[in-house]
Amino acid sequence: MPTIGEEISRALLLGKGKGVLAVDLRLLIRSNEGFKDQMDVFLHRDEEMKNVAIFRSQVERLLAGEPVELILGEAEFLGHRLKVTRDTLIPRGETEELVALLSQIAPRYWDARNFLVCCDIGTGTGAIAIALKSQFPNWVVSGTDISAPALEVAKENIGREGLSIRLFQGDALEPLIRENMAADIIVSNPPYVLSPGEAQPSVRDYEPSSALYFDPEDNVYEKIMRDVCKVKKGPLLLAFEIDPGLKDYLDGLMSRYLSDYESEYKEDLNGFLRFLFIYMR
Ligand SMILES: C[S@@+](CC[C@H](N)C(=O)[O-])C[C@H]1O[C@@H](n2cnc3c(N)ncnc32)[C@H](O)[C@@H]1O
Repeated sequence: MPTIGEEISRALLLGKGKGVLAVDLRLLIRSNEGFKDQMDVFLHRDEEMKNVAIFRSQVERLLAGEPVELILGEAEFLGHRLKVTRDTLIPRGETEELVALLSQIAPRYWDARNFLVCCDIGTGTGAIAIALKSQFPNWVVSGTDISAPALEVAKENIGREGLSIRLFQGDALEPLIRENMAADIIVSNPPYVLSPGEAQPSVRDYEPSSALYFDPEDNVYEKIMRDVCKVKKGPLLLAFEIDPGLKDYLDGLMSRYLSDYESEYKEDLNGFLRFLFIYMR
């Protein structure tokens, strides 16, 4: 039997120039061999690998461009291990930034210990809702999605975390309007990739197109801004993740649908305009 170190070297050689990362190999080995963490993988590199056939078939999948998160069936988001499937977007680092920024910005307007009503529109795996509810246990958090299979995954993730988060299926704000809900905070990372050509092949081929692509005729940004007054009882904060190329479009939506508000765009850590916060008085 080959050792763990030998199998890593073999996989790196096969994957040279094909985007196979050592960190992904370690994540697979950690899971297959039952190690605690990636450090453990290093420490056992001279031991025989127990699950060579499984590892090699996973390496084939990596070579075909499948994201490691889908091979593992889980992704990490702000310290939470979340189930992911072909029906959900793999949560991204930028969305972790969105949650962090929202956690900083919300207390400008409210005492964050209040029972604020916060809705995550297009919740996917439930990542944003789970991270916010964990950080602000007093908040009344709910998540919505148009996709029933995605909501099944969110339900499982919320159950695993033991959190109380209500889920609703429907288009943009429609479930909140239906339920007569009034919100303080609406957060959304809606589909915003401008065209399939802009997505990497691994994204295009393995993640649901309903979670990815922006449609100028039918999109969550417009629906939220159009209907937000129907769920606004007092001041309301909107927090969006965006594509930088949508700035003019979003400026247009704000002037068309909103009044008495202040807005702020923020960059992500890579220097791209990635977030829009709108405070409606
Ligand atoms: C970019 S993914 C974000 C998933 C998750 N919130 C995250 O940040 O990882 C967009 C999500 O919005 C959902 N979605 C797309 N159109 C929608 C609509 N009209 N109303 C509600 N959800 C929608 C998709 O099913 C998908 O789960």
